Amino acid sequence: MASAKTKTLWFCNNCGNESPKWMGKCPACGEWNTMVEQTVATGPASKRVASVPGQSRKPVRLDSVTSGSEDRLSLGSAEVDRLLGGGIVKGSLVLIGGEPGIGKSTLSLQLPLGCPSLKTLYVTGEESVSQVKMRADRLGGDSSSCFILSETLMDNIISEAEEIAPDLMVVDSVQTMYCQGVDSTAGSVSQIKEVAATLLRFAKESGIPVILIGHITKEGAIAGPKLLEHIVDVVLQFEGENRGAYRILRSIKNRFGSTSEIAVFEMTGTGLREVENPSELLMPVHEEGLSGTAVSAMLDGTRPFLFEVQALVSSAAYGTAQRSATGFDVRRLNMLLAVLERRAGFRLSQKDVFLNMAGGLRITDPACDLAVIAAVLSSNFDYPVPSDICFAGEVGLSGEIRPVSQVERRAIESGRLGFKKIYVSSYTRFDKKPEGIDIVKVSDIPALVRSLFKNG
Ligand code: TYD
Ligand code: MG
Repeated sequence: MASAKTKTLWFCNNCGNESPKWMGKCPACGEWNTMVEQTVATGPASKRVASVPGQSRKPVRLDSVTSGSEDRLSLGSAEVDRLLGGGIVKGSLVLIGGEPGIGKSTLSLQLPLGCPSLKTLYVTGEESVSQVKMRADRLGGDSSSCFILSETLMDNIISEAEEIAPDLMVVDSVQTMYCQGVDSTAGSVSQIKEVAATLLRFAKESGIPVILIGHITKEGAIAGPKLLEHIVDVVLQFEGENRGAYRILRSIKNRFGSTSEIAVFEMTGTGLREVENPSELLMPVHEEGLSGTAVSAMLDGTRPFLFEVQALVSSAAYGTAQRSATGFDVRRLNMLLAVLERRAGFRLSQKDVFLNMAGGLRITDPACDLAVIAAVLSSNFDYPVPSDICFAGEVGLSGEIRPVSQVERRAIESGRLGFKKIYVSSYTRFDKKPEGIDIVKVSDIPALVRSLFKNG
């Protein structure tokens, strides 16, 4: 191979954009002070085109292409398989991202241990072989078909992988690996790109699926997810409060399935446990008759689930009212409070309002608005919302309740979990009325108040 030449380039730490000179603001992602200087190899060593063997290089007419379904492997975990769209696709590169300590290594070791029919190569650049063994003992399962390699040089990893020829390879983590041809330290932008490109090439050429782990800081600063997102086939992101026991694995990119699906896990003393029915975990745990709570029927990806919204409204202790929201956009809360004030005549400007989403969830589904309003009003009146009622509706600026997507599926899930009534927008149209639950249609906030708190 010809010896590689080198040149100096500037890379954005956030999105990986490259530039021949330094810039204060990255023109691609708009972040400030993210450009770092790096020497990169040019010429043959930095070739990073992943060509797929056995495929024609000539353009072909699309209608003459025979479409085979992707060849998938089950990872032995129903939730992870579902998130991937029915198992991991052979030859795909899957990135699992998340903050340090959230459970990426635990999950990626637990998968092969729970699936002894797959021969797995687990490559770690962070722990020694005996540390991995200790973790494996703690997790339990069958380790007879799991090979551990403690290595950080990509060339060695690839040649070991070619020799062992596993069914699945795990690389923990992208930040600790390095390629010889690239003249910068492990974890730098150009190393991360090159490591990911090498693994992608390996996966595509060998047909072996690769799970790659990547650390993401809260700010997304070190090799932000964007950098790898366009290289890999699938991005799964771990979320959740570190102190809480629940972890959410969210699919944010999937070339072979739908995105915005989630899987919920519980971190236990013996690893991560799948939570098959998140609704049951996020539902009220207290006796009936507590004011300030309301259940929302939300949708994450294609799966409906129910969770509890908690609000506390009290007179402002120190002059200016406080507004705080956990797991919910505080600006959206302020908007909903302003709507309550202006469109329904509730005087909340002198009240402290605290809002909390159960289980440390972060909610972005607008259908949650109606449950937020109900919880706030319930706390304000100190009058409980009956426990067999749930909500799914968006609230508009004029106080109108707007319809939300896939109401039928939300209603069916609510009925299945024992709810008797679901409050929705009166503009909702059902193709087929869901059975087992009553639909209560409300057009605006005053109508909601009349219906919910008429005895209060
Ligand atoms: P880890 O999977 O190493 O996180 P990451 O690879 O994302 O940095 O560990 C996650 C945390 O989980 C760690 O603080 C210890 C804890 N843990 C348990 O509670 N139970 C267990 O069985 C294991 C293996 C880890
Ligand atoms: Mg780890």
